[in-house]
Amino acid sequence: MKKMNIQSYIYGITLFFITLSGFAQMPIFKRYYIADIPGLGWLANFYITHLMHYIFAGIFISLVVYSIIYFIIFKKGFGQIAKDMIIRIIIFSGLILTGSLLVIKNFSGTPFPNGMIIMLNLLHLLFCMALMIFGFYQLIKRKKELLSG
Ligand code: HEM
Repeated sequence: MKKMNIQSYIYGITLFFITLSGFAQMPIFKRYYIADIPGLGWLANFYITHLMHYIFAGIFISLVVYSIIYFIIFKKGFGQIAKDMIIRIIIFSGLILTGSLLVIKNFSGTPFPNGMIIMLNLLHLLFCMALMIFGFYQLIKRKKELLSG
């Protein structure tokens, strides 16, 4: 079994908290009483989860930039990019692009029309769903590989 290195741990923890804090941007954890569970009250505090989302977005973008530089330096040649990697690149670019525009949207005085803000939110959510489905597909694929030895 391939040894999990420190980078995969940071990547996994970042994806978990960026997704959790992302969903906490929507008032669902209070509505479904999850925030009432002792120790989880912070999930209903928009400012805490908003700051968390920004911090983990920064870590996420740094990890992506690190992987790109690593790939360019050590993996010489884009011919080696597997199909899964292309899907991951599309999803990550979509999340970072829509996320960055949402950050700009949050600056006071940013004249984004309402329609664009709604579209950005929906697109960001769509890429988030795509990431979760893709992650689930990869988990099943890895399990199958493990079982088939
Ligand atoms: C794996 C990566 C990411 C996931 C899974 C994710 C997930 C989410 C989710 C589920 C939401 C709530 C959408 C809604 O309210 O309809 C959200 C909101 C947001 N995300 Fe992300 N996100 C990710 C990366 C990023 C990045 C890289 C940035 C910034 C560069 C970012 C910035 C934002 C902002 C600004 C909001 C809106 C908060 C508001 O309502 O003002 N996200 N994210």
